[in-house]
Amino acid sequence: MDEILSLRARLNALNRAYYVDNQSLVSDQEFDEMMHRLEQLEAQHPECYDPESPTQRVGSDLTEEFRQVRHERPMLSLGNTYSRAEVADFYQRVSEGLSGQPFQICCEMKFDGLSISLIYKEGRLVRAVTRGDGSVGDDVTANVRTIRSVPLVLPDGEDWPREFEIRGEVLMPWQSFNRLNLEREAQGEPLMANPRNAASGTLKSKNPAVAAQRGLDVRLYYLLGDGIPGRSHYDNLMAAKRWGFKVGEEMRLAHSLEEIYAFIDDMDHVRHHLPVATDGIVLKVNDLGQQQSLGLTAKSPRWAIAYKFQAEMQETRLLDVTFQVGRTGAVTPVANMEPVLLGGTTVRRATLNNEDFIRQFDLHMGDTVQVVKGGEIIPKIVGVRADLRDGHTGAPVVFATACPECGTPLVRFEGEAAHYCPNQTGCPPQIKGRIEHFISRKAMNIDSLGPETVDDYFRRGLIHDVADLYRLRQEDLAGLTGERMKSAQRIIQGIDQSRDVPFERVLFALGIRFVGEIAAKSLARAFKDMDALREATAAQLMQVDGIGEVIATSVVAWMGDAANRELLERLRQAGLRFALSEQQLSQHSDRLAGQSIVISGVFRHHSRDEYKALIEQHGGKNVGSISGKTTLVLAGENMGPAKLEKARKLGIRILGEDEFLSMYSL
Ligand code: IVH
Repeated sequence: MDEILSLRARLNALNRAYYVDNQSLVSDQEFDEMMHRLEQLEAQHPECYDPESPTQRVGSDLTEEFRQVRHERPMLSLGNTYSRAEVADFYQRVSEGLSGQPFQICCEMKFDGLSISLIYKEGRLVRAVTRGDGSVGDDVTANVRTIRSVPLVLPDGEDWPREFEIRGEVLMPWQSFNRLNLEREAQGEPLMANPRNAASGTLKSKNPAVAAQRGLDVRLYYLLGDGIPGRSHYDNLMAAKRWGFKVGEEMRLAHSLEEIYAFIDDMDHVRHHLPVATDGIVLKVNDLGQQQSLGLTAKSPRWAIAYKFQAEMQETRLLDVTFQVGRTGAVTPVANMEPVLLGGTTVRRATLNNEDFIRQFDLHMGDTVQVVKGGEIIPKIVGVRADLRDGHTGAPVVFATACPECGTPLVRFEGEAAHYCPNQTGCPPQIKGRIEHFISRKAMNIDSLGPETVDDYFRRGLIHDVADLYRLRQEDLAGLTGERMKSAQRIIQGIDQSRDVPFERVLFALGIRFVGEIAAKSLARAFKDMDALREATAAQLMQVDGIGEVIATSVVAWMGDAANRELLERLRQAGLRFALSEQQLSQHSDRLAGQSIVISGVFRHHSRDEYKALIEQHGGKNVGSISGKTTLVLAGENMGPAKLEKARKLGIRILGEDEFLSMYSL
């Protein structure tokens, strides 16, 4: 029973990470194995039945922001196999199920994206819905319409039925994916782990313009509906191709198990040269009549199966484990390995995540480790060959107890996986990281300084914290003979100009944990100056919209620290802005505090963006769509009748432009 409960908890957490947060924490194979084990245990212990067990439902990618639509025909998933023996079992089962009748198998690529259902009526695309939980999905029609390879209107004179559904995969081609990551890198944003996550994030974007720019593509692989023309799956996909749909080019009919194996072998090479990601192949009984006689199980058809490619894996030796300290003091263990060629690049290092990860593998120095790159960018260790240990294998890897940079004993907070170096004010990477954050574009924007200069000044003892920046003198930086006078001048000028940076950005620049740009803005507006903020209690902080317990506790702890208070004093002396400006104060009020306002329609006095800014300046919140939480609708001309109706039904106050401005004296 304990194992059942712990497997359910683990699978639920993995499902959530995958479907909601777009993160795969384990390989598909590991996930399937856990699911399979749970299914077995539940079959052995029917008394443990739970309708909410992860075995009872397929994963969900539902997002609150989209309209949800019930699929006319449920979107099933496929059983997975990982070995030829399992493929042979499938072949055998089909053969027996068809009582020895001859049959053909349509072999296709398994595209690694996001499944989509497209509905066409009278030759026009009317709806595009994600798989969701298999029964209900998100209506993403607006975004799908931006995908060039999805036909919006079908050619006349073809044999398409008046109404049909076609399913397939939305993909982000490698080229678009690499371009997107280059852009993200340039903007200092975290990279997308793989094209599937990128495609999913794009398809779920609330702004179809984003989807349009990102270069998505599709492959269609399943035609459904009453009037579809062919009697076999292959013929139907060929018909779909004639109507302008993009189907997988690599499709092939197999007449024997050997032909299936040959397809697998070929595709294992071909797939490395395809423009889109694939993670296996799909085998489908070709004849629709035979499909029907084989039927379905609760989750997947008996007439089809997926064979997953093994992620390319290499074995190499673990030479050493080092520990890296980040800006927040979090310590990450890194495996240094004998160089090995993997997926076209030489790999020397892999992350070991945290102490639990090391323990889970019982990792020893000198161990032979298994490394994969899969769809992820950072290589992962997925296994250890304990069977290869011999007299040369070293001691078990132990997590550092002291910070590798400053020697301070590490701490691990309850409930967190990471270790931290608590020496925030004396640990070099933490100090440098904080200074780099302080000078960054969205903070104090001192662009005359960069990470190398910060590193140099820190090593020369010129700066120990952010307040020291304001004590730098041109002659300190110009070099002994003044050879760097010009750049020194530029740097000092940049630092000088940062004294005018508004209060909310100063607050963000301090790098208080969990206080991002938006929280800093809200806090600055609510408390108006640093003194008020410094004395605020957690309860007072939590009164501010968007500030929860985590942020409040972090601010109180930071402000209560003696070293931070001293730092604030020095920054104040340096002349940084510690309060909202007169102009900011006069523009702000709390006249709209507590209001959730939807803006809809066309306006005469101000643009939509101006109204948005106005609402925020006066303490209100601008929200995108009407819901039970909306308190007011600012209605311009030509507001959509459906919206108006919804607002009326919910009893929400609706104000025209003039009424709104005069009622709140804006
Ligand atoms: S057929 C009932 N064909 O794999 C059969 N699926 O694990 C429905 N997929 O949800 C699926 N390539 O998102 C089919 N050539 C292909 C596929 C494919 C990728 C995905 C699809 C499905 C998942 C099943």
